[in-house]
Amino acid sequence: MTGISHLLIRTERTGDEAGIRAVHLAAFAHDGQQGTAEANLVDALRAAAAFPPELSVVAEADGRIIGHLLISHASIETASGAVPCLALAPLAVLPGYEHLHTGTKLMRHALARAARSGHRLMVVLGHPKYYRRFGFRPAPPRGITCRWPVPPEAFMVLELVPGALDGVRGIARYHTAFDDL
Ligand SMILES: CC(C)(COP(=O)(O)OP(=O)(O)OC[C@H]1O[C@@H](n2cnc3c(N)ncnc32)[C@H](O)[C@@H]1OP(=O)(O)O)[C@@H](O)C(=O)NCCC(=O)NCCS
Repeated sequence: MTGISHLLIRTERTGDEAGIRAVHLAAFAHDGQQGTAEANLVDALRAAAAFPPELSVVAEADGRIIGHLLISHASIETASGAVPCLALAPLAVLPGYEHLHTGTKLMRHALARAARSGHRLMVVLGHPKYYRRFGFRPAPPRGITCRWPVPPEAFMVLELVPGALDGVRGIARYHTAFDDL
């Protein structure tokens, strides 16, 4: 595939569920297994109303959904209480449509929406090279950790509001649906 002629980036709406599920099943497939865990995670987060509706973003082209990004509510557990934040996961683009900037467009749309809605912090667990371009930086050096045993550079944080991390130190707590991953 050399390009996408009519790419639409928009908020998820009723009727998108199956298309979103298909994207995650295919994009996270490995060793002959479909990406069932990621697809189920999205369904569980939706059933739990665990994300701001405007932060479930789809990419549509050729009459179908070719990408999806979800950002759910999370918190940083600090010594003085929970600080609200957002957690980005999962992000996926349908195989055959990668490297055409769809992931980048989903990210830019979602980050702008999150900032406009007044959110201050976002965490992500993923490929450092990919997320760095959007401003994410390793979280452990900033005093933010997660409960998964991951390479420190893979857990990242983004200040949607400059200075939002000042004085915030603690462990990121994702929605319990992530426990099943
Ligand atoms: C990661 C993913 C969402 C990227 O989507 P995309 O539409 O291809 O991304 P873009 O076209 O906007 O950006 C592509 C860039 O990301 C980089 N990139 C893509 N996948 C990457 C990966 N797994 N690790 C590091 N960098 C990656 C490429 O180097 C590319 O840069 P280039 O264009 O300068 O060569 C897509 O490949 C995907 O769905 N992968 C499977 C699921 C997954 O791993 N999700 C992310 C979990 S952290």
